[in-house]
Amino acid sequence: MKKILVAYDSKTGRTEKMARLIVQGFQEAGHHVVDLHISQIAVASDIHGYDAYIFGCPTYFEQPTEQMKQFLIMARSDALKGKPGGSFGSYTHHGLGAQMVHDTMERIYQMDMLFTGPFRVKDLIIDADMAGQACRDYANGISRQLN
Ligand SMILES: Cc1cc2nc3c(=O)[nH]c(=O)nc-3n(C[C@H](O)[C@H](O)[C@H](O)COP(=O)(O)O)c2cc1C
Repeated sequence: MKKILVAYDSKTGRTEKMARLIVQGFQEAGHHVVDLHISQIAVASDIHGYDAYIFGCPTYFEQPTEQMKQFLIMARSDALKGKPGGSFGSYTHHGLGAQMVHDTMERIYQMDMLFTGPFRVKDLIIDADMAGQACRDYANGISRQLN
């Protein structure tokens, strides 16, 4: 059993919904998961000690949210270097927010990213309640790489 952190930002609830579904997937795979909105994380040491880190962020104006950018500046730490990581997020047409989170985790945090890019789901799919299987599959894919 691994200890996994899912930390996300979400303005209108879609990326939060993805986070809940991904958490379910990790729980079904037998892992201990903590999910936090990034506003609940005050200092970098708040997120030390996990076996894997999954960060979620939607795209606004082709970027991650301002709060996620501030979080990524604050949370950078050698404690995360080399740790397994993943990113996800909801979007409408580009999804560059989750991509930039992925790139920051890989290139700045120097984490071991478990997929070559982020896991993104279009807003319409989430609104139609059709994202459940894909989110659980994502968690299962990560779980297989962690075991
Ligand atoms: C003002 C505004 C700007 C947006 N800009 C983008 C964008 O640049 N690229 C994109 O793919 N989606 C964009 N979106 C769509 C959001 O990413 C999408 O609604 C997403 O599901 C929101 O996630 P959240 O509910 O977790 O905040 C934008 C939405 C709004 C309201």
